[in-house]
Amino acid sequence: MSDTVRNLQQTVDDVFDTDAAQAYFDAIIGDDSRIEPRDWMPDAYRKTLTRQVSQHAHSEIIGMQPEANWITRAPSLKRKAILMAKVQDEAGHGLYLYSAAETLGTPRDVLLEQLHTGKAKYSSIFNYPARSWADMGAIGWLVDGAAICNQVPLCRASYGPYGRAMVRICKEESFHQRQGWEILYELSHGTPAQKRMAQDAVNRFYGPALQMFGPPDDASPNSQQSMAWNIKRFSNDELRQRFVDMIVPQAEALELTLPDPDLAWNEERGHYDYGELDWDEFFGVIKGNGPCNAQRLARRVEAHENGAWVREAAREYARKQQAATAETAAVA
Ligand code: 3HC
Repeated sequence: MSDTVRNLQQTVDDVFDTDAAQAYFDAIIGDDSRIEPRDWMPDAYRKTLTRQVSQHAHSEIIGMQPEANWITRAPSLKRKAILMAKVQDEAGHGLYLYSAAETLGTPRDVLLEQLHTGKAKYSSIFNYPARSWADMGAIGWLVDGAAICNQVPLCRASYGPYGRAMVRICKEESFHQRQGWEILYELSHGTPAQKRMAQDAVNRFYGPALQMFGPPDDASPNSQQSMAWNIKRFSNDELRQRFVDMIVPQAEALELTLPDPDLAWNEERGHYDYGELDWDEFFGVIKGNGPCNAQRLARRVEAHENGAWVREAAREYARKQQAATAETAAVA
C-alpha cells in the first residue's frame, strides 16, 4: 500500500465522507492494489462485480451437467474416477465464487433465484450437448483451456475475494485441461473411428469455445469500465487471440484440424488470423435459445429442489451448535 493510499484511508476512517471514500477507492485502483469487502466502493463497481462473479459461479455449477452426463459411461474405472473428481472440482469452484459474490452483499438464495428464473446469465458454452466420449476430451482441452486463458488474469482482479478464489480455480482448471488433452490424444492416435470421433468433437466445440470470451470488443458494453477498474485485465478479443495462438500448435500435436479455413499465421501481426464467428448463434444462445438451455435450467432447478433437505439439515445443525455454545458460555 502506498503512502498516498494509507493517508486517504486514514481520512476515510476519521470522518466518513463520500468524496474522500471515492478518492481512497480511486487511489487503490490507481495503485493496482485490492479492494476488500469492508472498503467503500462505488455502487456500479459492486453491481458489475456481483454480476460477473455470480454469472461465473452459475457457469461453474451448470458446467457440471454436460460432463456428469458421461460419468456412468466413461470407458474405464480410472477415467470414471478422474471425471468424477473433475465434476466435483466444478462444484467447488461454484462454492468459492458464490462465497466471493456474497461478500458484495447479495445473499446466495437471491443469486440462485436469479439463475433459476432465467434472469441471470451463465456461460454460453454449457448449452451445447456432450454427444460422445470424445466430447469429454474436447471440453477439457478447449473449454477448460479457454477458461484458463480468460481466468488467469482474473487472479489479479482488484476485488480481493474474487482474485483469491481464482488462484485455486486456475490451478484446478489446469489439471482439467490436461485431462481433456490426454483423452483427445489417445483417441486421435487410436483407431480411425476413434480419430473421427475426436475430430467431430473438436469441430463442434471450437467455435463455441472461442465465443466463451464474450462478444467482440466493439459489442462488449462492460469491458471498458471493468478494465478501468482492474477487474478485467484484457479485452475479450485480446484473450480470444491469445487462446487461438495457443491452441493452433496444440492441435498440430494432436494431429487434429481446427475447423476454420481462414486460420493462418499472420507474420506482420505475429498472431494467427481466424475467421468470423457466428455471433447470431452466440446471442441466440445467451438469450436462452441454445440447444440445451431449457434442459440445463430444468435440471438445475430439480437438483436445487431435491437438495432442500440438505440445506434444512445444515441449518438445524448450525442452530444446535449455536445453542450448545451459548449454553457452555452461560455455565462458564
Ligand atoms: N456466455 C454468456 N454470456 C456472456 C458470454 C458468454 N460466453 N460472454 C459475455 N456474456 C454476456 C455478459 O455477461 C454480458 O451480459 P450482462 O451485461 O447482461 O451481464 C453481455 O454478454 C455483454 O458482454 P461483455 O463482454 O460486456 O461482458 P463482460 O465484460 O462481463 O465479459 C466475460 C464477459 C468475458 C465472460 C467476463 O464476464 C468474464 O471474464 N467472466 C469471468 C469468467 C467466466 O464467467 N467464465 C465463464 C465460464 S466458467 C468456466 O469456464 C468453467 C470451467 O469449469 C470450464
